[in-house]
Amino acid sequence: MEQYIIKGGSPLVGEVEIGGAKNAALGILAASVMTTEPVIIENLPDVRDTAVLIQAMESIGTRVERLDRHTVRVNAANISGYTIDDGYIKKIRASYYMLGALLGRFKTAEVALPGGCNIGSRPIDQHLKGFRALGAKVEVSRGMISAKSENLSGNHIYMDVVTVGATINIMLAATLATGKTIIENAAKEPHVVDVANFLNSMGASIKGAGTDVIRIKGVERLHGTTYSIIPDQIEAGTFMFAAAITKGDIMIKNVIPKHLESISAKLIEIGCEIEEFDDCLRVAAPRRLTNTHVKTLPYPGFPTDMQPQIATTLALSEGTSIVTESIFENRFKYVGELQRMGANIKVEGNTAIIEGVDSFTGAGISAPDLRAGAALVLAALVADGISIIDDIVYIERGYEDFPEKLTALGASIEKVESERDIQKFKLKVG
Ligand code: UD1
Repeated sequence: MEQYIIKGGSPLVGEVEIGGAKNAALGILAASVMTTEPVIIENLPDVRDTAVLIQAMESIGTRVERLDRHTVRVNAANISGYTIDDGYIKKIRASYYMLGALLGRFKTAEVALPGGCNIGSRPIDQHLKGFRALGAKVEVSRGMISAKSENLSGNHIYMDVVTVGATINIMLAATLATGKTIIENAAKEPHVVDVANFLNSMGASIKGAGTDVIRIKGVERLHGTTYSIIPDQIEAGTFMFAAAITKGDIMIKNVIPKHLESISAKLIEIGCEIEEFDDCLRVAAPRRLTNTHVKTLPYPGFPTDMQPQIATTLALSEGTSIVTESIFENRFKYVGELQRMGANIKVEGNTAIIEGVDSFTGAGISAPDLRAGAALVLAALVADGISIIDDIVYIERGYEDFPEKLTALGASIEKVESERDIQKFKLKVG
């Protein structure tokens, strides 16, 4: 079993390059099958979730050629089936984007029910409501969702909750429907905008992405394109907190500072120094950080995907902090692991009450999901002594070269596979 072994203690200092946004990449990869012409996608993060989606695309006859580590050429001219039931696809959330993409192009699609991180019940009713509003007959049975339509036609759709997944999915299908679709109460996340920009570069007509009303004029066909994915807001945010929690000083390169404003604001509030440049951001934490209150909200609010990282940082900051999770109901599973490292956190419903402690101690811990796993890595980077983290497969779903990037900043972290590797690491770090 692969694990991370980490010796805490060093402030992280230096430069780190942020990759392409995973959550944008998943929507964009799915959208790339909506044309018969070749599509080149650049700045694609090389993480497990994108690899799984590519495999699913290939399982129905899409050709995906890797031009280099972060560039693929997708050719979906010869798609031979509309059913995706590949064993792996159930593990990722974004499998549902194939439904919107295939429904749009072929008016028929069948995809295994999505999995992903276990952070709450994660219903998909808004996706299905949207497809039905476009005229599709949607059925869920035996672990599969199927959607079919003789003629997909535009409609006025009001989302009951702000959802990134359903907004993107409906946008995909509506792009190739006849007539106009209006999505109200749409999600405004940067990756929603990136998927819209990608579709527009293929000839779609989508306006308003990034606001809460998206207007789509259906087009008959989409054409090929070359497109570069935006930088990953959450990977960048994670390194911002890595600087904060380790009292380090990191230049985070290849970011869009605007996408990071809610994160920067909280870091400044708790005592960090932030310098913004065109496409990079420097975060330094010269002194002990202080408490704050934070509530996760849809963009431009503080992202739920950064909740474990800020809570972990606040667990070492002075005073009492309150973190409220308003998007997913089961996103505090990592708290038990942090308590084992010495954190003083009480969870009541969707709120964590955090009494800052002076230090953590290294422990054997497990990553309960992707972002919580990254937060536990941050905890281990400052803990006294050695920590070993299990279930790193979650972390690898969304962070490319995480140990390598941290090592370049001065961290002592290695991916290990055996007791021998662990002993070697311990000898090396002394
Ligand atoms: C996406 C991201 C995930 C991030 C989340 C919120 C991907 C692959 N994942 O997840 O990293 O944490 O956005 O920014 O992009 N909901 C419904 N019905 C639906 C759909 C959602 O009630 O049909 C609810 C969810 O339970 C949740 C809220 O809406 O409470 C937001 O979910 P959503 O934005 O859809 O999250 P995902 O797209 O699953």
